Amino acid sequence: MDLRSLLSIEHPVLQAGMGGGVATAELAVAVSNAGGLGTLGFAPPQRFERDIERTRSLLQGKPYAVNLLMPFVHRAHVQACLRHKVPVVTLFYGFDAAVVRALKDAGTCVIYQVGTELEAERVLAAGADALIVQGFEAGGHVRGSERLEALLPRMRERFRSVPVIASGGVWDGDSAAWARALGADGVSCGTRFLMTDESGAHAVYKSRLTEADVTVVTTLFGAGWPAPHRVLVNQALSRWCDGSGQPRRSIRAFNWLSGWGAKATPLELVESLTRRQRPGLPIYSPQPLVAGMDARLIEVTPVYAGECVSHIDTIWPAARVVDELARGFRP
Ligand SMILES: Cc1cc2nc3c(=O)[nH]c(=O)nc-3n(C[C@H](O)[C@H](O)[C@H](O)COP(=O)(O)O)c2cc1C
Repeated sequence: MDLRSLLSIEHPVLQAGMGGGVATAELAVAVSNAGGLGTLGFAPPQRFERDIERTRSLLQGKPYAVNLLMPFVHRAHVQACLRHKVPVVTLFYGFDAAVVRALKDAGTCVIYQVGTELEAERVLAAGADALIVQGFEAGGHVRGSERLEALLPRMRERFRSVPVIASGGVWDGDSAAWARALGADGVSCGTRFLMTDESGAHAVYKSRLTEADVTVVTTLFGAGWPAPHRVLVNQALSRWCDGSGQPRRSIRAFNWLSGWGAKATPLELVESLTRRQRPGLPIYSPQPLVAGMDARLIEVTPVYAGECVSHIDTIWPAARVVDELARGFRP
């Protein structure tokens, strides 16, 4: 089925659900109003539900999505999606067939972001309606190890009956056209939408990204979630990692152990601990710097960014980003 018909959108442009306060209701609403698919980022259950209510009331029937970050998902998140009849849910970083089934039974469109063919096979067998194929050049947490150019054409060839959406390394009309040429039915972008007026990223975070060229993949900001993530270099990273982004062994061991308690740790607690992080103590959560936090935390929080950050030096209204990306899919 055509992606636009599946999602009832005008342009095959998805804004990635960026958690911790980056993908706000304002951002999701602006993207959906511009004809793309806006996605609410993951948040503690109460805020998650409030964001859904706000997005729904502002969009007045237009489609939108919410993102479920599987390592932290609770029943309350899934229940909120069902209660509010969220039209589209995107899932990432972990598999739970029961969650997919519950969403599908309620008539929700389920889109899984994956990084390998094996993972794609599994989520499609569970009933997912579409795939977001994430390349290694992506910003934030990276699921696989292959770049989009290698992975996407194989996924396209193998999973012909579902829409395949490209994620990672797409920031403008030309790169969207490149993804389309690789076989993508649409694109899902994080970094480019972070660099918009409506995103909740702190102004200092956005400003760092306008100046940046180089990213590294690390597990440093992995307290509670020891998965690889692509970030800019800041003080914490220079101090505790080697040149390739690998943290010291003791930090890796701590993060790995802390991963076992992730589901049991309230996300509100993670946020308040993040505010106390400092350069000398390498216990760093995945929470990025968002509006309202102390700007100095930029040196001790993950400055997530995709490789495409080297091409972006402007902060635009989200609607302009949708229009620019949609150019890649015009005849
Ligand atoms: C700041 C930031 C936060 C992210 N948080 C999430 C998240 O909470 N859930 C998710 O599914 N993907 C998340 N991602 C990954 C995106 O879904 C996507 O794979 C990535 O942004 C694509 O690469 P790009 O940044 O080059 O566009 C995040 C990406 C960024 C840049």
